[in-house]
Amino acid sequence: MTALLQVRGLTVAFRTGGLAARLMGRPDRLEVVAGVDFDLAPGETMALVGESGSGKTTLARAVAGLGGEVGGEIGFAGKKLDLRRDGHRLRREIAFIFQDAISSLSPRFTVRSLIREPFRIHGLPCPEGEVERLLKLVGLSPEIADRHPHQLSGGQARRVGVARALTLKPRLVIADEPTAGLDVSVQSEVLNLLNALREELGLSLLIITHNLNVVRHVADRMAIMYLGRFVETGATARIFAGPRHPYTVALLSANPIIDPEARRARIDLEGEVPSLARRPQGCEFHGRCPFVQEDCRLRAPDLRVEADRGFTCHHPLRGEWT
Ligand SMILES: Nc1ncnc2c1ncn2[C@@H]1O[C@H](COP(=O)(O)OP(=O)(O)OP(=O)(O)O)[C@@H](O)[C@H]1O
Ligand SMILES: [Mg+2]
Repeated sequence: MTALLQVRGLTVAFRTGGLAARLMGRPDRLEVVAGVDFDLAPGETMALVGESGSGKTTLARAVAGLGGEVGGEIGFAGKKLDLRRDGHRLRREIAFIFQDAISSLSPRFTVRSLIREPFRIHGLPCPEGEVERLLKLVGLSPEIADRHPHQLSGGQARRVGVARALTLKPRLVIADEPTAGLDVSVQSEVLNLLNALREELGLSLLIITHNLNVVRHVADRMAIMYLGRFVETGATARIFAGPRHPYTVALLSANPIIDPEARRARIDLEGEVPSLARRPQGCEFHGRCPFVQEDCRLRAPDLRVEADRGFTCHHPLRGEWT
């Protein structure tokens, strides 16, 4: 099947401190996403994982047409997008659920006004009964429409966020940390909801999360991000069963609850994440990698593709994981 979303060589940069930065010898432009490629099929869920600051939110926002100096190519539903001109159109077809977007809102809004807002922004009429229909779709009672954000539980607020994302019938929903800050039982409710909607509406989902249990639960594929690049991508089950990149092993090691039965190699990450302003030579992970060899310091590894997965490592792991 052809991809709904095709991302090729995506870069996202920000202007930083300008003159002050230059005087202090810092670059005044920071490339936060540095050449990312992936496809997302209709109805598919991909998870984006990586340490804080690795560029997950920046990448997702760029895909949704929300900010940064964007380079590269994005294809959506078979059409190449003009990243400057198509921003507005994209925002209808690609919905973005911001982390904790609803409960942090002003108490003067009602749920009804929040759900109607996307229609208003796009100059479209909100059909009669649509707010109630959307609330029902996300498993909430229509009476909630007259409540205010601070009167909602965390789980209800997250569901309202999902309802609001669905107003304009998007084909792709991007959720940034959809379960952060929720109790474990509510987390799985929200994930089950997203999954059910994906099936019912044929949505594609891009989920950003720190929680690898979430990834395992919902994602068909996953991408591991480090310093604004994908270091490993592939089917979730295969990556959990046998990660090839040492950084992936390190991330999985940090999540001990996943499969207590399995004997696993562990890598405890040492050292700081390098600064984006001073990217390391060679493999950008070499300063923190326990398997570093001479060539890792000298030469950046090319992407290696094996079956349905890809990774960038000179000395990938082979089954040492279990
Ligand atoms: N508007 C901006 N201007 C300048 N730098 C930015 C801007 N937005 C993000 N950055 C920088 O880009 C880098 C990546 O940030 P981003 O928020 O995408 O990371 P993340 O992977 O989503 O992290 P987290 O897991 O903490 O949400 C960080 O170094 C951040 O400081
Ligand atoms: Mg983020």
